[in-house]
Amino acid sequence: MERRQFLEAAGALLGVSAAWRAESPPPLPDPKLRQRDPEQYWKRIREEQFLLPNWRAFLNNGSLGVAPKLVVKAVADYLASSAALEMDYYPRWGYETLDEFRQELAAFFGCRKDELAITHNATEAMSMIAAGLDLKPGDEIVITDQEHPSGRGCWQMKAARHGLTLREIPIPLPPESPEQLAELLIRSLGPKTRVLSFSGITSPTGLVMPVREICTAARAKGVITVVDGAHMHGQIDFRISDLNCDYLAGSPHKWMFAPAGSGLLYIREENLEKLWPTIISGGWNETKLKAARFMNVGTNNRAIVEGMMAGLRFYQQLGPEAVRDRMHQLARYLRSRAAECPHVELLTPEDDRMYAALVTIRFKQDDLKKFHELLQAKRVWCFQSKQVRLAVHVHTRPQDIDLYFDLLREALG
Ligand SMILES: Cc1ncc(COP(=O)(O)O)c(C=O)c1O
Repeated sequence: MERRQFLEAAGALLGVSAAWRAESPPPLPDPKLRQRDPEQYWKRIREEQFLLPNWRAFLNNGSLGVAPKLVVKAVADYLASSAALEMDYYPRWGYETLDEFRQELAAFFGCRKDELAITHNATEAMSMIAAGLDLKPGDEIVITDQEHPSGRGCWQMKAARHGLTLREIPIPLPPESPEQLAELLIRSLGPKTRVLSFSGITSPTGLVMPVREICTAARAKGVITVVDGAHMHGQIDFRISDLNCDYLAGSPHKWMFAPAGSGLLYIREENLEKLWPTIISGGWNETKLKAARFMNVGTNNRAIVEGMMAGLRFYQQLGPEAVRDRMHQLARYLRSRAAECPHVELLTPEDDRMYAALVTIRFKQDDLKKFHELLQAKRVWCFQSKQVRLAVHVHTRPQDIDLYFDLLREALG
């Protein structure tokens, strides 16, 4: 047998198409290097495990993260393998319960497999929650003024359609303490409040909310708690079941290395039969499917789910604690650079409990044209507005942060 035929036959046995397999990244550096020379370790992680070019400074991981090579490979390999029909099942999701994947996800996220559905993103999960709840005219929904359009719009639409009241609670910026935030939200719940929906980490400012305290108090008052957790997975350490919430939406394509189009919907076990599914195919009323009832959404690209699983495994391989520590170390550094800059005010408090990998600044002046031109010229990927949320991840280099503030000084003096 010729070498190529042999490789293809071997590939087929392994369930992969030899001709189309994407190249593997090298193994991770020895973890001892992380102790000995952390800067070198993380430099190598960026250079060896990601596709980010040297010239790109990426400071907006909060909107969408970048997939490491292993994830790109998992997606590409699965697409190739499915085009060759190497498997004996339909290479898709949308009619499948994906039990093994959900088991693995649930073990990591700290809930039961039967409480977890795979979605395309947090927007979809939030819409499914809002659309699926039974509420009646006059019921009140409480949200904060820090919600992402996906965490606000779903309730606005529900309120407009069903005659509900929507009340928005302003969050002080910067807040004094997690206790202040908890008290503010708990105090805002009134006799007509049926739902409290808020972000575990706020979108515009990256504020880490005391989710457990808020949900526990709200549930004790009989209020349904919905957590928009788009930024939570990967950025902070938590188990969903410890949060005491009724529903949670997640977007692992932000901080968990998943490819775009990866989302999660958590439904607390006691609510599994209370929520109506929004996207309907067969099985919509088969409650024995538990959370998988919410995954009958029609034919979908399973390569993305394969990529999400590869992202989760890569995150675990790096070490969740090591990842979170590195991100927060960089965020603290970023915050310290912002604190010494006369042109901005910090909306991120100093208290480490209230931020993880996102820092938000507000410029004191309006004319930022020169600064934005410099950012563009130096290929710095970030928001360009008066209020800016900056994000760091393990692939962020300290020099990327320096570049941002050096350009700021060059532009504004
Ligand atoms: C708090 C929050 N919720 C929801 C979303 C929407 O996420 P996705 O686009 O992944 O659905 C975002 C996106 O930034 C967010 O910050």
